[in-house]
Amino acid sequence: MTRQFGLIGHPLGHSKSPVMHEAAYKDMGLDAVYCAYDISPQELGNAIRTMKAQGIDGFNVTIPHKVAIIDYLDEIDEDAEAMGAVNTVVCQDGRWVGKNTDADGYIESLLPVVSDQSLTGRRVLVIGAGGAARAVIHALGKQRATISVSNRTAEKAQELAQLFSHLTIEAIPLNEAESTLGTYDVLINTTSVGMYPDTSKQPIALDRLKQATIVSDLIYNPYETALLQEAKQRGNRILNGIGMFVNQGALSIEHWTGRKPNRKCMERVVRMHLT
Ligand code: ATR
Repeated sequence: MTRQFGLIGHPLGHSKSPVMHEAAYKDMGLDAVYCAYDISPQELGNAIRTMKAQGIDGFNVTIPHKVAIIDYLDEIDEDAEAMGAVNTVVCQDGRWVGKNTDADGYIESLLPVVSDQSLTGRRVLVIGAGGAARAVIHALGKQRATISVSNRTAEKAQELAQLFSHLTIEAIPLNEAESTLGTYDVLINTTSVGMYPDTSKQPIALDRLKQATIVSDLIYNPYETALLQEAKQRGNRILNGIGMFVNQGALSIEHWTGRKPNRKCMERVVRMHLT
């Protein structure tokens, strides 16, 4: 019987998840489909009931439902609890369990480019204080990094530092982040600044960047943001967001099927579909 997976979000626009998932299933020889459901916040309750009735095996959740979905689930796991958000729902013995693969997906992409594959005690600067920053900070906390968070709206960075006060974390103003940039091992942009179509923008000035700092951007469209291009020109190691996107999807598939999909094949398909 064909297994049914999917994605709920609004607006879904040109989501790359369906082509990425279906490429993975094909490569795995898995008889499954992945459908995108554009569901407005008002329709969420009805949509969930319909999906349950249809016997859907599992689904991904994206903006704006990552928090609201929690009310409709039987249980959420530790990662989802810590982030206050769910991106993957798994049907286990008739119970709907919410998980979040964003943090582990990000770490899986970052660790291979970090020396010793360890972030313990490393100084990491996170730019942004939205949902993506939460996932990254939770991930960095699991790796015992020393975190600074900085955001255009400074109060939101402070709120995030409060929320994660069990970690080694401080909120700092953006001008301080720029002037102390040379002290960080990793710089991570979690904001949408530089995303297609506004590709010339950068979230932070890199004048004080030292060459050993890894510069990471969660954006993958464009494939290399202005921030990454400048860092590359300066001779820094860079990491774009495609790895995180592919890994969070691959980890969802692992939760649903117990099998490991081919991440290279998934990445190839996503790249092919970038504007
Ligand atoms: P996501 O879930 O993708 O993180 P979000 O919760 O809307 O999205 O958060 C967007 C982040 O990008 C925020 O940190 C936001 O900064 P503010 O808190 O000041 O709004 C940041 N951001 C978006 N547009 C920005 C811009 N033009 N300049 C600086 N920061 C921006």
